[in-house]
Amino acid sequence: MKILSVSQLSPCVLFLTILFAWPVAESATSPVAVRADLTHADSGRGFTRRELLSRMAARSKARLASLHSPARPGAVTAPVARGTVGREDISSEYLIHFSIGTPRPQRVALELDTGSDLIWTQCACVHCFDQPFPVLNTSASRTLRDVLCSDPLCTRGGLPLSRCAVKDNFCSYAYYYGDGSFTVGKIVEDTFTFKTPHGKCGTVAAVPNLHFGCGMDNKGTFNSNESGIAGFGRGPMSLPSQLKVHRFSHCLTTMVEFRTSPVFLGTPDDLEAHATGPIQSTPFVPNTGGALSSFYYLSLKGVTIGKTWLPFNESAFALNDDGSGGTIMDSGTSITIFPRAVFRSLREAFVSQVPLPIANDSTDADSMLCFDVAPKKKVPAVPKLVLHLEGADWDLPRENYVLDLDDDGDGTGGGLCVVVHSAGESDWAIIGNFQQQNMYIVYDLDSNKMVFAPARCDKL
Ligand SMILES: *[C@@H]1O[C@H](CO)[C@@H](O)[C@H](O)[C@H]1NC(C)=O
Ligand SMILES: *[C@@H]1O[C@H](CO)[C@@H](O)[C@H](O)[C@H]1NC(C)=O
Ligand SMILES: *[C@@H]1O[C@H](CO)[C@@H](O)[C@H](O)[C@H]1NC(C)=O
Ligand SMILES: *[C@@H]1O[C@H](CO)[C@@H](O)[C@H](O)[C@H]1NC(C)=O
Repeated sequence: MKILSVSQLSPCVLFLTILFAWPVAESATSPVAVRADLTHADSGRGFTRRELLSRMAARSKARLASLHSPARPGAVTAPVARGTVGREDISSEYLIHFSIGTPRPQRVALELDTGSDLIWTQCACVHCFDQPFPVLNTSASRTLRDVLCSDPLCTRGGLPLSRCAVKDNFCSYAYYYGDGSFTVGKIVEDTFTFKTPHGKCGTVAAVPNLHFGCGMDNKGTFNSNESGIAGFGRGPMSLPSQLKVHRFSHCLTTMVEFRTSPVFLGTPDDLEAHATGPIQSTPFVPNTGGALSSFYYLSLKGVTIGKTWLPFNESAFALNDDGSGGTIMDSGTSITIFPRAVFRSLREAFVSQVPLPIANDSTDADSMLCFDVAPKKKVPAVPKLVLHLEGADWDLPRENYVLDLDDDGDGTGGGLCVVVHSAGESDWAIIGNFQQQNMYIVYDLDSNKMVFAPARCDKL
């Protein structure tokens, strides 16, 4: 058994050994169940709500731009946002924390990215960006091995630009992201160790032989707290694919509090135990392949605001044959984005139903909609926002699309904003993280569907 149970003893140990047990010899087919922590980019940094909102907006914009930046000649791109707000880096939304190597697991902090597949961390650096802890030391791990050209994941892993180094026969790669950031290195394999507090019990689960990029030459705008990226996309190199899990899930804690959020890979579906509302499901729709095949596309049929069904049929949200458009679930986007025409119509629907003046800096038809609330005035009810998905109506709780600005005490006055963005020139619809707060979201890979329910994520 590659199992360790640490810290508290007794009842915990028994429970965890069952939950996290798998025989080492059959790592390929036996179920793996791990839990890891996610930290939010703005966690514990003392931002006001206004600041949080503008940072989220900037990150979403940068992400969107990177989804559309033209590929470099000859390079396959993966869509990850890089950008800056002033001098603050805004590249990532959530970092997943775990360790690599034996006997002494070495820490990594990777950007969780459902829009790409490669897992990589800085190592054997030729050119690396600064990171807050030592880069992975390959010679300090007894279990780290080069992946050879003959390895199926090297040649058929869907890895862009992987090729075999003539001299050494190892699997080298060059992976470019949408904005020109890149990582170049070699594919290696090693043991990943996931260690998280689970209730009162500490747990450790180690999974051997996972393939990842040892990034030797990495350049671009990366978050100064990250050491690389963890692809959670649909391709064979991604973390869920390599763990051969049938599902993964996350439950994001509220963004105004910033507690650690859990991500689960391969755990049994315990939605029913945690759901605080209806459990619904909606299929992922097949995509058109190519560089965007990592994405999890949903079938969005329409949107209602209060009593208004926005005048768009599902073709406004559908994936086109040329790969444009479509509605995706994206861990790299903070704020839900709608195609411009849909966004404008949503704006009008809120304006006509909310009896408040539009904030002065929010009058442009493409800007996020904010209202002023006079001091000591009662905030009126905001109409419901419902996303009509194939087989499911996602009735968003107020706090998942409205941000009240009235408690900043910074002299800028009160207000509230409808936290939805315009896609500008593009025709994407992207369901962002703000809309997923306190939602238990399960990516059911076996049945190719998303299952979701409201939950108290800080209680999981
Ligand atoms: C990497 O690990 C090896 C073996 O433990 C050690 O000798 C070496 O000093 C380490 N390198 C760095 C940069 O820490
Ligand atoms: C990195 O993490 C530390 C500790 O959580 C935090 O104070 C700092 O602001 C973070 N930096 C960035 C760029 O996210
Ligand atoms: C949806 O819109 C498209 C394009 O505007 C149109 O061709 C199609 O007939 C519409 N379908 C329905 C069901 O209204
Ligand atoms: C918004 O602009 C109007 C007209 O320019 C002005 O009278 C009003 O005081 C402004 N409101 C705020 C909150 O700045």
